[in-house]
Amino acid sequence: MSTLPAEHRVSDLFAAAVAVQARAYAPYSHFPVGSSILTPSGKIYSGCNVENAAYPVGTCAEAGAIAAMIAGGDTEIAVLLTVCDSEEVGTCCGGCRQRVREFASQSTPIYACGPDGVRAVFTMETLLPTSFGPENLSGFVS
Ligand code: THU
Repeated sequence: MSTLPAEHRVSDLFAAAVAVQARAYAPYSHFPVGSSILTPSGKIYSGCNVENAAYPVGTCAEAGAIAAMIAGGDTEIAVLLTVCDSEEVGTCCGGCRQRVREFASQSTPIYACGPDGVRAVFTMETLLPTSFGPENLSGFVS
């Protein structure tokens, strides 16, 4: 990970995501996921997937990390990282791309990791081009 930008704190984000991945509640998919967020102030928040016997009610790791960030008083994602055990590059699902987009900018880096480390890095814009966000509602909400 030494060639990755130091300011992205990838080693710290990866360690936090792996730690929380171990706590994932995934008895149905057996696919534990961990996600961590770095804020501009340097704080790290993390979350894991939490499944449910009523399958659609389950939540993704990214949603958990965002909830932790909001509960912690932060509202900006500087870097996001997700780790899963897939052989393939496993990055945020479509719904989570929209969730992350609410608090990210187009250039926000999004790291996809396997147990061995970083497999790919994207930007928000690549994962969700021409997206809809809070600014689209300015002038419509009071
Ligand atoms: N999952 C995540 O936590 N994040 C993603 O971006 C993709 C999928 C979870 C949801 C479900 O608990 C399990 O992985 C299998 O889909």
